[in-house]
Amino acid sequence: MAVDLLLGLQWGDEGKGKIVDVLTSDYEIIARFQGGPNAGHTLEFDGQKHVLHTIPSGIFHEKTINLIGNGVVIDPVIFKKELENLQKHNIDYKSKLFISRKAHLILPTHRLLDAASEASKGKAKIGSTLKGIGPTYMDKTGRNGIRVGDLELENWKDKYRALADKHEKMIQFYDVNVQYNLAELEQEFYDAVDTLKELQFIDSEAFLHQAQKEGKTILAEGAQGSLLDIDFGTYPFVTSSTTTAAGACTGLGVAPNQIGEAYGIFKAYTTRVGSGPFPTELFDEDGETMGRVGNEFGATTGRARRCGWLDLVALKYAVQINGITQLIMMKGDVLSGFEKLKVCTAYNYKGEKIKHLPYNIEAENITPVYTELKGWAADLTGMTKASELPKEFNDYVEYLEKVLQVPIKVVSVGPDRKQTILR
Ligand code: GDP
Ligand code: IMO
Ligand code: MG
Repeated sequence: MAVDLLLGLQWGDEGKGKIVDVLTSDYEIIARFQGGPNAGHTLEFDGQKHVLHTIPSGIFHEKTINLIGNGVVIDPVIFKKELENLQKHNIDYKSKLFISRKAHLILPTHRLLDAASEASKGKAKIGSTLKGIGPTYMDKTGRNGIRVGDLELENWKDKYRALADKHEKMIQFYDVNVQYNLAELEQEFYDAVDTLKELQFIDSEAFLHQAQKEGKTILAEGAQGSLLDIDFGTYPFVTSSTTTAAGACTGLGVAPNQIGEAYGIFKAYTTRVGSGPFPTELFDEDGETMGRVGNEFGATTGRARRCGWLDLVALKYAVQINGITQLIMMKGDVLSGFEKLKVCTAYNYKGEKIKHLPYNIEAENITPVYTELKGWAADLTGMTKASELPKEFNDYVEYLEKVLQVPIKVVSVGPDRKQTILR
């Protein structure tokens, strides 16, 4: 049985949490493969809203197994808070939440290093979520990291101490003002590790291979988005993992020829949180409207998201890199009421019109070339069938399909599970 993927195609926050939750009824296993608590995946159903950071978005379904794969980085402190939230909602997670022994741990000092690194960059800062993601992946590739499986060893605290001591020296090296009380942070960390150890640690690649052999259906849930990918994103304003399709192979131990459907998810417009280039960013009333109507505030940090028109050059790039087979368009409802809609179909780049994403997409090099489409006035949020959608909405979707050459099979018209329409 092939493994399907669900990937964000923009700068994150496309609505992955909602759609994984909607698709979960079709899957027996949901597996996160990269990123960590920098992610904030929002789910809404039965009048309640839940935000998940490390835990896969299938956790609210009774029988679904949720796996945190080897490519993920886990902060036990944040993870413990997520578990407490599940407990409040009487979710029996112990029987259906598995963690790869090869997943790496975020230590309190990784978070401090993240803060020190950002402070030292001044205006050039990445706009990191400050969850310690960059420093943890650095320790992973530097072959110094501590993995979940290490927690089963007697001497794991010695390993921890050696790494934390090294981190303290590195924090001093940055020569910036980062205040902390390590003893307190460590106590909180040790307590959280005890909670983590109550869960099932597994050899996740073997588990998945067996599940595939048994014909189980598996969906890999991406975090962040393609334009935040460490290789293909807007470097250095990216995250530190492979957010694209290839990341599901390395982050779960699934071979490339075992990938089935690749669902690509995007908003009907574009948002970005944190620093970095954004060619179609709006600084006018239109951008303000998108932010307000779309309630564009980060699910992890609460920061206002920057908003702009849909960038089809960037979206096509993401479709190609990921081998997307089906598209899902989110937040169409937010565009209701715009008389005209713009989509970027090319860039003016150093005096030339180009249709691909060049090496450097900083504002001084690029002006977007827009195509205008007619907007629609109707409120979409109460619609449940494709036949109810306005003509101009369908024209917008069909225009995108023509440019992207991939079918848009699902459109989302509101945050709730039920506000999802199949085309
Ligand atoms: P993720 O990180 O990709 O899971 O996305 P986030 O949860 O960070 O951000 C998506 C936000 O949009 C959340 O607040 C969702 O509840 C909300 N949302 C998802 N789909 C829709 C939609 O179709 N319409 C509207 N208005 N909101 C949506
Ligand atoms: P989900 O999974 C949106 C952004 C940060 C920053 C950059 C690097 O909810 O879509 P990091 O903390 O990784 O060092 O930050 O990446 N970023 C996200 N933006 N959604 C996310 O996740 C993000 N995770 C990281 O804002 O610009
Ligand atoms: Mg998010």
